[in-house]
Amino acid sequence: MARKLFFAAFSTFVVSGLVGFAAQDEEPEYTISEVMKEAHKGGLLKKVSEGKASDEDKAKLLDLYEAMLANDPPKGEAEAWKKRSEAIVAAAKELIEGKEGASDKLTKAVNCKACHSEHRP
Ligand code: HEC
Repeated sequence: MARKLFFAAFSTFVVSGLVGFAAQDEEPEYTISEVMKEAHKGGLLKKVSEGKASDEDKAKLLDLYEAMLANDPPKGEAEAWKKRSEAIVAAAKELIEGKEGASDKLTKAVNCKACHSEHRP
């Protein structure tokens, strides 16, 4: 009896865990607005461009940009958004790998004005 109860509780736990996981998979970890605040207003990208970013800063920045890519743009073509965001994610990955010129590549890929005029409502 106790065993049966335990099993029931255990399967509920597994199922809700899976549902939670699936939901997380669909919802990006951060909204675009959060990415902008942390990466841009918060100065993470600036640290990178000044060569002052720690490994944690770089990892966080990649996390943020991956979430940005996973979001749909509030305005403009989804395809253009994807292309732009993918270039940014790729450059952030190169930065983590320590590739030469990666920080220049990243700061160029993150074109505030161009992206805002196309995608910011
Ligand atoms: C890949 C496209 C893209 C790039 C590149 C980009 N932004 Fe944005 N930004 C957006 C979008 C889209 C919004 C509007 C988000 C919303 O309202 O949901 C936004 C909003 C913002 C906001 C307002 C956030 C808020 O909700 O308070 C700030 C600040 C900002 N961006 C700063 C910057 C700066 C600075 C740069 C360059 C270093 C930059 N962004 C580069 C797409 C981009």
